[in-house]
Amino acid sequence: MKIIRTSVGLNHWFNEHNIQINKSLGLVPTMGALHQGHASLIEKASKECDLVVVSILVNPTQFNEKDDLDAYPRTMAADVEIAKAAGCNVIFAPTAEDLYGGKPKAEPVNWGDLTHSFEGKCRPGHFDGVIAVVDKLFDAIKPDKAYFGAKDLQQVAVVQKMAQIRYPNIEIVSCELIRDSKGLALSSRNIRLTNQGVKQALKLSFALSKVVEKISAGESEKTAVDAARNELKEYDEIDLEYFNGVNFHTFSHEDKPFEWSHIVVAANVDGVRLIDNIELEVVD
Ligand code: PAJ
Repeated sequence: MKIIRTSVGLNHWFNEHNIQINKSLGLVPTMGALHQGHASLIEKASKECDLVVVSILVNPTQFNEKDDLDAYPRTMAADVEIAKAAGCNVIFAPTAEDLYGGKPKAEPVNWGDLTHSFEGKCRPGHFDGVIAVVDKLFDAIKPDKAYFGAKDLQQVAVVQKMAQIRYPNIEIVSCELIRDSKGLALSSRNIRLTNQGVKQALKLSFALSKVVEKISAGESEKTAVDAARNELKEYDEIDLEYFNGVNFHTFSHEDKPFEWSHIVVAANVDGVRLIDNIELEVVD
């Protein structure tokens, strides 16, 4: 496995190996601090493509709080091992200045609720930064397929829209959300949780699965979601931002319960911002 740290180095490597002509290329964009959730994306890419590039860059333009950017874990040595074991061929780990070609900045993008509701509303400018960096990566790497985790559900919808408009030849692959044995959605931020925080955080995934159980048992979507939201609000240790049903294609508050495809949640637990979601089974 090769580690490349500059865009120029990446171009050299592409030219040397005729990569973009002869081989199918899969890209897994990450911000490092890799775990089994990331590894599952790399493994899928490695099954489906001849070569897999994993990008690692803590992208400054998608952080709306400087403290969060500073606190973001950076674990390059361990990342190299995880990426290699999962089937990565090249780690592309440029500086932000190198990838952006100067001071990193993101143009505002407004695709209505898709970019401005839920995550877009709680983290103003977040999707501007995600779109900016993914655009730079797609342009630099020109993959055939790019892999994103359903853990960041709204991000998948935003990137799909971006690819549709700007990169119609790149296939966006949405990959399954990976949890630990207790149900906690794996996240690079979890290492900042105390043991007590982990217990509180598990209430989020528990609430999501309880809603699905209740709906399967015949309760209305709205009643089940409202009850779970109210229950989560009761916990002092959980600072709930949202707990809602959404349609993956719109992320609109206007969507009717019968149009919901997922339940999404975001909360601050133990000083750590966590997001999670669950898919609703469509019953005919
Ligand atoms: P990061 O949080 O490092 O995540 C990189 C990719 O791994 C994303 O597509 C994310 O959804 C996926 N991922 C993280 N945890 C997962 C889990 N438990 N199960 C499945 N997939 C998981 O998301 C980003 O970085 C950035 O926004 C990025 C797209 C790289 C742009 O900077």
